[in-house]
Amino acid sequence: MLISRNPGLSPSLLLRVLASRRSRLPDHLASRQVILLGYGRTALYLGLKALRLPKESNALLPSYITSSALSPFLRLGIVPQFYDLDPRTLAIDWPALEHRLSASTRVLMIVHYFGFPAEVEKARRFCKEHGLALIEDAAHSFLSTIDGRYLGTFGDIGIYSMRKMVPIPNGGALVLGQGKGDRSLIDLDRLSAEPDRRRLIALLGRYVESHAGFPFPRLPGLSPAVNHSVVTKPDSRKQLADYGFSPWSMRILCRIDLADVARQRRENYQFLTELLPFSRAVSLLWSRLPAGVCPQALPLLTAKRDVMAKALRDRGVEAHGWPSMPPEVDQHEFRGAAELADKVLLLPIHQELGRGAVTYIAQTVSAVLEYSA
Ligand SMILES: Cc1ncc(COP(=O)(O)O)c(C=O)c1O
Repeated sequence: MLISRNPGLSPSLLLRVLASRRSRLPDHLASRQVILLGYGRTALYLGLKALRLPKESNALLPSYITSSALSPFLRLGIVPQFYDLDPRTLAIDWPALEHRLSASTRVLMIVHYFGFPAEVEKARRFCKEHGLALIEDAAHSFLSTIDGRYLGTFGDIGIYSMRKMVPIPNGGALVLGQGKGDRSLIDLDRLSAEPDRRRLIALLGRYVESHAGFPFPRLPGLSPAVNHSVVTKPDSRKQLADYGFSPWSMRILCRIDLADVARQRRENYQFLTELLPFSRAVSLLWSRLPAGVCPQALPLLTAKRDVMAKALRDRGVEAHGWPSMPPEVDQHEFRGAAELADKVLLLPIHQELGRGAVTYIAQTVSAVLEYSA
């Protein structure tokens, strides 16, 4: 049994892609405001350029953050000022945030973690009051809405990483809001095409491995991370990901029913929460699944995270933590973020999983808890 972290590419989807020349993107990605790119970090880098920030500007960033979201700031010489989040809910600590403001602060970035919205209206008011640009990192959340409006479209710029939710070889996007971003500063000619054939085969391999139950050969030349989970990882510390959107990603994305993806993920999330054995040792990060949310995963909080993640993976469930904290975040100063990075366990709930797979995840969590009690 293999329950992959992200969906693989099914042969039937590939056949539909091959059989059709249709290239109509879903409406919210076809908008003139959206620029399709290889990665979320490429989008953030280009979006920051469009904001034309003076060198040494400060940006307020959440302390619970991944290197690939931090690297575009460092690359442009923008100084990160980390802020605290509530370690039980991930809500922004607004008074603490206000304390971090300085005369050099130009930007506030909020992250919509795992498909769930941050307090975006409050962030907008905060930015207006203090003259800041608002960046929405919706890397996990390109299918989530608030009152029918997509996350990523509320700020001056927003970013997506669609490849985390749908089986495409690469795929991120920059959303330019009506506010401060200047499109003419975005130089797309510098982007190169990413070799994507082998990534495509690896995605097919993931599907075969999950459904046929036998391992697909590892492809030479792809990093173990790519082969293993099809989480394509340009080296985030080296910050190299200046790639354009793959033509294969475009063709596949045009053939996927995204409303169906969101419905299936919500259904799996809800079904799994009904089956999981919650206790003091394991709880849900958020107890509600608000309307409009398309979850990227099911986040749990548990002090036994590493033991559980390993035991689940040994039994074929690709559970994992998030993120590895970048060294720039001081773990003593930001204890809440460090605690989250130790305790969050993400369970797969993606659109390819049926009820049997979701039941297996819940049973495996119960078994692991019993044996590790
Ligand atoms: C919150 C967040 N922002 C940005 C990124 C960067 O996205 P990509 O990996 O597509 O560059 C990631 C990737 O993991 C992320 O988790």
